[in-house]
Amino acid sequence: MHILKKRSWEMPEREATPESVFLNRRKILAGLAGTGAIAAFAGTGFVPRAAFAEEDPSSGLYPPERDASYTLDRAVTPEDVTSRYNNFYEFGTDKQVYRAAQKLEIRPWSVTLDGMIDNPQVVDIDTLVNKMPLEERLYRHRCVEAWSMAVPWSGFALSELVKMAGPQSGAKYLRFETFMDPSIASGQKQSWYPWPYVEGLTLEEATNELTFMATGIYGKPLLKQFGAPIRLVTPWKYGFKSIKSVVRISFTDERPVNFWQSLQDQEYGFWANVNPEVPHPRWSQASERLLGTDERRDTLLYNGYAEQVAGLYKDMTGERLFM
Ligand code: MTE
Repeated sequence: MHILKKRSWEMPEREATPESVFLNRRKILAGLAGTGAIAAFAGTGFVPRAAFAEEDPSSGLYPPERDASYTLDRAVTPEDVTSRYNNFYEFGTDKQVYRAAQKLEIRPWSVTLDGMIDNPQVVDIDTLVNKMPLEERLYRHRCVEAWSMAVPWSGFALSELVKMAGPQSGAKYLRFETFMDPSIASGQKQSWYPWPYVEGLTLEEATNELTFMATGIYGKPLLKQFGAPIRLVTPWKYGFKSIKSVVRISFTDERPVNFWQSLQDQEYGFWANVNPEVPHPRWSQASERLLGTDERRDTLLYNGYAEQVAGLYKDMTGERLFM
């Protein structure tokens, strides 16, 4: 993933703060508030305000009922592992971006639906989550860097949002865009990256039953490092397709060029479907490291979701479907 000199995934996981310690700081600070003890942090470089997620007004909606038809062939990866090992380049290139990501303000938040649709609109995130049929799904998630996790996402099928938008007959693609605010996301000050982060799907992919907009995880609203308050999840594709903290979805007749593709077209493409037999130009995709374990597993075609998605690609020729 990382195309610059330092390979971020080589950072030892032991360097992360345990989540229990990190989250406990919230309780500790609540206890300290009013005692004057908070002033003791002055000058230490520790910034309490930035460290914690504010209360999420949608928390009462979680956990939604689980759709039992989505099952796993492995254990769910513990939250204290997945919430401390993230890719969110807006906040830095190492895996411990959870600290910096707490600067993201997730209320107010709205998502703009525009382009070739009958119902263009700007929808407030709380209006949206209250309107959509929330459910929980257990999905595998396979990063192009050859690590994987398995998590319980909460959210809704993207097809519901597509229905709400009302695509016009010429619309072929969805182009997704992440927020842009270098004042809080210091990674966005790095001008060699093509900000904002952009991703794309075909309309057929977007309306496939698997394609999910996640607004929660582990039975709670999304933590900021997971791409709060709303992100895409396409479990048969490499993780970079699953764009975080979405602010705009545009329906278009032009194939979007995604963030990684515009940076390094020879290594990252539009389709990015998981295939163990097609190596990344610099490493094998045959197997994956299961986060939080010592286990390596053989990677599955379409990350194990061939039954649901292989048909989307059956008549395609001349496309780089697996990068
Ligand atoms: N979305 C944005 N906006 N910025 C990012 O850097 N990284 C992608 C994807 N979505 C990324 C993003 C990559 S490379 C991966 S593997 C997944 O998010 C990681 O999701 P996770 O941190 O929830 O595991």
